[in-house]
Order: sequence, then structure tokens, then C-alpha cells
Amino acid sequence: MKCTVCRGPAVIDVRRHNAAFCPDHFIVHCRDQVRRAITEHDMLSPDDRVLVAVSGGKDSLALWDLLAALDVPADGLHLRLGIGDYSTESTRAARAYASARGWTLHEVDLDADWGFTIPDAAAATHRVPCSACGLSKRHLCNQYAVEHGYDVVATGHNLDDEAAVLLGNVLRWETGYLGRQQPVLPAAPGFARKVKPLVRLGERELAAYCVIRRIDYQVEECPLASGNRHLAYKEVLNGLEHRSPGTKAAFVHGFFARGQTRFTGEDTATPLQPCATCGAPTPGEVCAFCRLRARVAERQ
Ligand code: AMP
Ligand code: FES
Ligand code: ZN
Ligand code: ZN
Repeated sequence: MKCTVCRGPAVIDVRRHNAAFCPDHFIVHCRDQVRRAITEHDMLSPDDRVLVAVSGGKDSLALWDLLAALDVPADGLHLRLGIGDYSTESTRAARAYASARGWTLHEVDLDADWGFTIPDAAAATHRVPCSACGLSKRHLCNQYAVEHGYDVVATGHNLDDEAAVLLGNVLRWETGYLGRQQPVLPAAPGFARKVKPLVRLGERELAAYCVIRRIDYQVEECPLASGNRHLAYKEVLNGLEHRSPGTKAAFVHGFFARGQTRFTGEDTATPLQPCATCGAPTPGEVCAFCRLRARVAERQ
């Protein structure tokens, strides 16, 4: 296998681009894809203060690395979720990456700062842990950004994540979610802009990127995610991709270009007002995060 660019020995093939790359040209490929996503979707402007949501996994560490390479300085925010050894190791990887570079990594500790962990929340709600987890992550990342003057929150959602979420939303015709599934969610009162610069890179590419760049990341999957429907969707999509490379990219990017706008407006439900407890914008009186906290407190 030879590098498509320089004909040197290739270390990875990217079938959907009908290409293979040596380590150096693979890094160029990843940077090009991120640059293209940022430009195509108008994700960032030069003066933005950017906060990267850093889990300690491959995607978010690669994202932080790639943004720096593209001259987009960013601080990190790591949320300590209290999921046993998995969280301990994730925090270690995030801190090690940041401190080796002298970059700023903020931390929020769900247990110390808010009085509960994700397992506590799952037990209190009798629902899959991922729903309390996703809700808490969205709330805390946004709150941190708004309170500390960041314009943008960048997350490491990749092509495989977006394809799996899209398939799930389509299978159930979740029109409200489809209206909000965008590579950029614009800022609004009480909300920082949200961007996903990795939407043009797959999971396998991001793992290879970390190996080539010698980024030490948390390789374990979350132990609470085993019943997660998205894992099944990823398997199905991998099967389709294997038979017909480019399927995932066509599905996701075709949706962003031609499908998504048909669903905007589907989620403009009730007007938002400040949460009576924390002040975050919410359609109800108390926001979902504060209601979750109250439920966990009741049970404790
Ligand atoms: P996930 O929801 O685990 O698929 O993660 C999607 C993205 O959310 C990651 O790429 C990160 O940008 C962000 N994220 C997930 N977990 C954390 C965490 N513990 N702290 C900060 N950001 C996170
Ligand atoms: Fe949120 Fe596993 S990381 S439930
Ligand atoms: Zn090359
Ligand atoms: Zn609230």
C-alpha cells in the first residue's frame, strides 16, 4: 500500500476517499478535513474564545490537538462524571495531555460540585445512564462557557457518532431532534455556540491520528453504555460502509446539506425563560438539570 500523495509506504487507507496515506500525509488529511468542516459550516471566527469539551478519549484529545495545529487556541473543560475507574482514567488522560503542553484544562466535578455522580442519577431516574449523562454534559459545558466568557463549545463528535444519531432519529422520525442535529448550533441568549469540527473524520481515523501523534488516551468505552442503542446503529452502519465505502459520509453530509433545514422549526416549542433555580434558559420553570439534581437528592 502506497501513500496517494508521495508514493511512500502508507500506514492507513481511507476507502471513502479512495486514498492511503503515510503518517505525515495522514496528519495533513486530518487537518484538511477539520479545516474544511470549520469553513464549510462557518464554525469559528478569529476572535472567538473557544472551549473544547475534553473527555480524555481519542476524539476530544485529537480535536484539541487539531485545533491547535490550525492556529485555533482553545482551553479545555473536563467533566468528572464519577463513573468509577473509567472516570478516574479519563481524568488522568485529559490532565496528562494538557499538562504536557502547558494548556489550560478546567474541571467540573459532578459529585463534589453538584452532589451526585452519573450512577447516582441513573439509579434515581430508573433510566439508561446515558440520558442523565448527556443532559448533565450539555448543561455543564454550556454553563461553564457562558459563565466564563467563552463564545464557543467544541465537542469531539465524529462522523460515526453523527451517522448513528442520525439513523436513530430517522428510524423514529424524531423531527425535533432532526431539526437540531447540526454541525453548528448558533449562540442564543444563555447559550454559547456549539460546534463539531470532527464531523468529516471517522472513529478509525481519529484513533490512528492519536497513535501517530503519540497521544495517550482513555481507550476503554464507558462501562454504562453497553445497552446504548447507538452502538447497534454503529454496527449496522459499519456493515453498510464496508460494502459501500462513503455511505456514512453521504448519509450525514447529505443530511446537513439537503435534509436538515426541512426540520428546522420543528423544535421551536415554547419560549425559553430563566430556570428558577440556576438561571439557565428553559422552556419550563425549572431546567432539566436542576430537576435531575432534585430527584437524586430526594432519593439520597
Ligand atoms: P460522548 O457523548 O461520550 O460520545 O462524547 C461526545 C463529546 O462530548 C466528546 O467528544 C467530548 O467533546 C464531550 N465529552 C464527553 N464526555 C466528556 C467529559 N467527561 N468531559 C468533557 N467533555 C466530554
Ligand atoms: Fe455518560 Fe457513559 S459516559 S453514561
Ligand atoms: Zn505521503
Ligand atoms: Zn436549572
